Amino acid sequence: MNSTLSRLFRKKTIEQIQNDAAAGFSEAHSSGLRKELNSLDLTAFGIAAIIGAGIFSTIGNAAFAGGPAVVFLFIFTAIACGFSALCYAEFSSRIPVAGSAYTYAYASFGELIAWIIGWDLLMEYAIGNIAVAISWSNYFTGLMAGYGWHIPKFLTMDYVSASTAFTQVTGFLAQGLTLAQIQANPEWAGYIRGYLAWSEAPGFLGTRLVCDIPAFAITVFTSGLVFFGIRESKRTSNFLVALKILVILFVITLGAFYVDPKNWSPFAPNGISGVMKGVSGVFFAYIGFDAISTTAEECRNPQRDLPRGMIASLIICTILYVLVALVLTGMLSYTKLKVGDPLAFVFGPEGVNLPWVSGVVAISAVIAMTTVLLVFQVGQPRIWMAMSRDGLLPPIFSAIHPKFQTPWFSTMLAGFLVAVPTQFLNLTEVTDLTSIGTLFAFVLVSGGVLFLDREKGPANGKFRIPYVNGKWIVPGILLLLASSILWLNPEGVRNFFVIDSSFSHKIPLWCFLLFSSFVAIASFVKNLSLIPVLGLLCCSYLMTELGITNWIRFGVWLMIGLGLYFVYGSRHSRLGLRAEASGELVTPNI
Ligand code: ALA
Repeated sequence: MNSTLSRLFRKKTIEQIQNDAAAGFSEAHSSGLRKELNSLDLTAFGIAAIIGAGIFSTIGNAAFAGGPAVVFLFIFTAIACGFSALCYAEFSSRIPVAGSAYTYAYASFGELIAWIIGWDLLMEYAIGNIAVAISWSNYFTGLMAGYGWHIPKFLTMDYVSASTAFTQVTGFLAQGLTLAQIQANPEWAGYIRGYLAWSEAPGFLGTRLVCDIPAFAITVFTSGLVFFGIRESKRTSNFLVALKILVILFVITLGAFYVDPKNWSPFAPNGISGVMKGVSGVFFAYIGFDAISTTAEECRNPQRDLPRGMIASLIICTILYVLVALVLTGMLSYTKLKVGDPLAFVFGPEGVNLPWVSGVVAISAVIAMTTVLLVFQVGQPRIWMAMSRDGLLPPIFSAIHPKFQTPWFSTMLAGFLVAVPTQFLNLTEVTDLTSIGTLFAFVLVSGGVLFLDREKGPANGKFRIPYVNGKWIVPGILLLLASSILWLNPEGVRNFFVIDSSFSHKIPLWCFLLFSSFVAIASFVKNLSLIPVLGLLCCSYLMTELGITNWIRFGVWLMIGLGLYFVYGSRHSRLGLRAEASGELVTPNI
């Protein structure tokens, strides 16, 4: 039993990780990846991955729920991501090999957690890309309609959304409401498109033929681009990023002239709880800076450029997001922003009525989301490649194409795993799952740095998080926050401790309470480094805001991953087999 445990938590040393990456374990390839990327490319890659569906789409719901105060959520989320970015930066500087958080977890927590994080990252990249491809399709369809080319609705949306919308609208119609009345209600208006799609769709084997052709096509296109080479992806990405930044700056500048400060009052109409309803959408908008670390083996100077790229891209995007959120909520009342294309909407007939700007925004949204798709389709195969090198996935996952020098099988599989689910998964659900999965990865990376700090010897990376002793600061901050909440909202605090029918929804916050108390004690006893601890606490707090249903889905996802690990990964782990061969371990008792 002990040997099983020690095998599960056996760590790779940083030297081992680097040697393994250099050796390239796959029998299927003999040459390495092309070293093409510099710090500017990496910053562009970061921005390419960050600015996309979040700012062009999910910000609408967040602004509707929180009002102009959603700006604070953007700032808080940026700070939480900033702490995690510093942790990613330290890791990527110390361990400049592909695999991102997966590789970092292998060094800090051992094999089992590394597997969990690798499996979890599938949520960030593949499921995240499903969300982006669906949003891309929405904008693309609207754009085409603007040019007079109306793609049939049943070819532009997923099956489940159309079927759900049809059931909902049929129910409203049965109650005597008209389509116009349903359309006029901001909560229900979104159902109309699905209802029409389902109604117009041809019958097929007793059901309806509803699918999302644009989402499928864009996924196949970006996967193909990634398949043919990192250099081609880089050039395309850099060009598209420059274009989308210009368009966003243009929107901010022009929108500023139409801001009516009256729209900023009330600033927080639904209080903190309203603002926090937008966590998933706002956090989704920041996801992506970490994707840079998956390209470590394709960087010319990864130890210097990876940290630079991550931090620079995060800072640039935060500034743009805060400005966009301010302009958006200043141009139009937040009550009108519950739409899937808020940036185009505020310039449309219900906003300041500049249709040509709406068109420009729609084009830039399509471009922005294409770059996100591109970067995530680059990231996913590289994580599988790292896992395969370690024996946790079959060797074909790390096979490098002899001509294009890209992980061809993983790239094709990633394309398939995104393209197919876009046909039947719902946007909100995939956004939520992506956010919870990514936050979990950030929690582990922040925690992982704390473990690395305990290692003996000098840092071998060029970037280190400045050490600030959290002994007094962490418990102090937590106590201050707890007493402020008690002072500002005593009723809410009292309700929180009542065990009633809504108790299951309080479980995530209860877990956070226990976890943060533990972290406060650990900080005090072990003099933990402040920045990673703050990353750990901020990201785990954001996780609690995502609701018990997401936690359950996420838990099921992790269970499936664990099952796969015990069926394949643990039996083929190179680290385990190596240790067995050297007599360090007996066969695990699984
Ligand atoms: N941050 C990326 C987006 O908003 C995932 O599309």
